[in-house]
Amino acid sequence: MLFYDYYRVGQEIEMYKDFENVKVMTHPLIKHKISLLRDKNTGTNEFRKLVEEIAMLEAFEAFRDLPLKDIEVETPIEKCMSPMIDGKKLAIVPILRAGLGMVNGITALVPTAKVGHVGLYRDPETHEPHEYYCKLPDPIDQRMIAVLDPMLATGGSATAAVDFIKKSGGKQIKFLCIIAAPEGIEKLAKAHPDIEIYIGNVDRCLNENAYICPGLGDAGDRIFGTK
Ligand code: PRP
Ligand code: URA
Repeated sequence: MLFYDYYRVGQEIEMYKDFENVKVMTHPLIKHKISLLRDKNTGTNEFRKLVEEIAMLEAFEAFRDLPLKDIEVETPIEKCMSPMIDGKKLAIVPILRAGLGMVNGITALVPTAKVGHVGLYRDPETHEPHEYYCKLPDPIDQRMIAVLDPMLATGGSATAAVDFIKKSGGKQIKFLCIIAAPEGIEKLAKAHPDIEIYIGNVDRCLNENAYICPGLGDAGDRIFGTK
């Protein structure tokens, strides 16, 4: 099984195959929490907490290039200029529903981030994404945009979400997911070679229902307790 073929101790991220825009997390904390997520006996409450924590750990890596601005701070000793995140420059865009589970983990790090939403569901037969709701912070073109969805399976939903965001004017886009199938990575990376894709773990393949194997099942149902 090629489960950890990119894993190297001591590096925080690794490229996937020769896709320079695809970065796979290698941090042991992320790997550990993903294993807990996979477990079918992990209940809704713990599952939600883990999704938030993993999102936060991934964001730590993905937001290395967030813009900073110097602000004046008065320490007990003297005044100085000190850099802070220019939070107004960040928009996070969860793909409904499951992407919502990642939002709190990221707003805990950047509370001033604006939040947009892209509502998509997969047709159970064709697995094609269908759009039902989209609302982005305005204006969107000057912001760094982090699109969130725990699962990248066929890549249809992520590709459609990025298509929509680009059509709305979005330019600097990162996609953060927790588990990805090779099929979905290739589709998204080829359709949008200009975006950065951050992945918690690359799993083996899709099954006949386009579910990720071994995966974690239906992320939306597990986050919201709907099954
Ligand atoms: C899941 C998941 C992704 C999508 C991934 O959502 O959260 O959005 O499937 O599959 P894809 O890469 O093949 O498009 P789903 O459509 O089940 O909706 P939900 O989040 O409302 O449960
Ligand atoms: N969506 C999920 O929630 N899980 C999968 O394995 C594939 C798509």
